[in-house]
Amino acid sequence: MAKQIRLNAFDVNAAMHNSHGLWKHPESERYRYKDLKYWVEMAQLLERGLFDALFLADVYGFYDIYRGSRDAALRDAIQAPINDPSLIIPTMAYATKHLSFAVTVPTTYEQPYAHARRMTTLDHLTNGRIGWNVVTSFLPSAARNFGLDKMISHDERYDIADEYLEVVYKLWEGSWEDEAVIRDAVRGIYTDPSKVHEIHHEGKHYRVPGPHLSEPSPQRTPVLYQAGASPRGRAFAAKHAECVFIDGHSYESMKFYVDDIRAQAVAYGRHPDDIKVFMALSTIVGTTAKEAEEKLRELTSLSSEEGPQAIYGGYTGIDLSKGDPNQILTFQATDHGQTVLARYTKMSPKEMTYGEVIESVKKIGGRAVVLTGSAEQVADQMQTWMEKTGIDGFNLGHLVTPGSLKEVIDLVVPILQERGVYKREYEQGTMREKLFGAGQSRLSERHPGASYRYK
Ligand SMILES: Cc1cc2nc3c(=O)[nH]c(=O)nc-3n(C[C@H](O)[C@H](O)[C@H](O)COP(=O)(O)O)c2cc1C
Repeated sequence: MAKQIRLNAFDVNAAMHNSHGLWKHPESERYRYKDLKYWVEMAQLLERGLFDALFLADVYGFYDIYRGSRDAALRDAIQAPINDPSLIIPTMAYATKHLSFAVTVPTTYEQPYAHARRMTTLDHLTNGRIGWNVVTSFLPSAARNFGLDKMISHDERYDIADEYLEVVYKLWEGSWEDEAVIRDAVRGIYTDPSKVHEIHHEGKHYRVPGPHLSEPSPQRTPVLYQAGASPRGRAFAAKHAECVFIDGHSYESMKFYVDDIRAQAVAYGRHPDDIKVFMALSTIVGTTAKEAEEKLRELTSLSSEEGPQAIYGGYTGIDLSKGDPNQILTFQATDHGQTVLARYTKMSPKEMTYGEVIESVKKIGGRAVVLTGSAEQVADQMQTWMEKTGIDGFNLGHLVTPGSLKEVIDLVVPILQERGVYKREYEQGTMREKLFGAGQSRLSERHPGASYRYK
């Protein structure tokens, strides 16, 4: 069977995501993000399109590097105002049967003990349809609001995340035995105390004696996503991630990231295909190529000048307003995210000036690859990205909400199905089983987290 294309919707529980300016589009329903009915409709739409998951990004701060102010981000709804992504999941799960949910939570600001219980709760309530996108975050305004003077340095955040994962593996995998809850009314035993264990974690950053507060959920450890493709980020992904999310910009750079992460995973005793890779994508689909081009023109007329620069500042730490437009932008290892800056500097096929970077980020879709064309043309290009890079699918953003997703579901998905590269029905089971096969609800034996299982 040909390799199947996996699709997640890439979203955030906020007034706007990465489609700067497009909240102004007359057909955008984005302003309804505070309404549970909106999310139920979204989840049911995605399930109609047989999407694998709704992937929810998140940030804990304002984008306030550009011009040293949060004003541009607020004016253009750049991931602000923003609500908690995890709280909308149970209702969407109740309204669907198969759709999975991947939720972003930073290791830098949440304590592992509380986070482990929240994820177990979600895994119970969704019946095993939950994933966690492990990030270390990147905004100084978040650091300040969590009581720090400045961000913890980039690589140290990943070191802390490594220990964080060790703590949650111990809680999820090692604390409760499968047979701990017996509900034996005759003997008067709900939980057998001899099968619930402390974890005795004493590390550099965390002290957690345990036990875990929750009983084992269908997957125990949620499906582990990761986003962040700096050298330290890739090493972290190779060890922990089951799914990786990466922005793409050229076939070559995407293939480099995919191959590098998989090669490093092998060094941890894992198989290359233990890691599924998803690339950020946006699409503009027309019934004809001409219609798609007209849509692109319309969307471009709504694009904003400052919003994309505000996003860029937050992600990279570089304030584009401070550079001479003709000056070449060079890579600096800032404590923000390093992947985005690398893309416009050391991973770029040619040197770029500040002016060229501004023009590039202002394009509709921002940093994501944008495919414009008829449904056939978009389907062709999706297949080409799969073939040339080794990715497993796409995190599909939406420019006009929910219209851009409907275009893909109604026009592109049937073509992909016809070509045998997109499922016609869901696999049964948990999120991990749908990704890795029947009987695979729990972490693979090859995954480092499996070594913390109670023996
Ligand atoms: C494609 C992509 C998506 C990301 N999404 C988020 C996110 O939703 N929330 C967040 O706090 N960080 C996100 N990050 C960044 C991570 O927080 C990351 O741990 C940190 O900034 C370091 O990133 P780096 O390894 O790319 O330098 C994302 C990174 C990439 C490359």
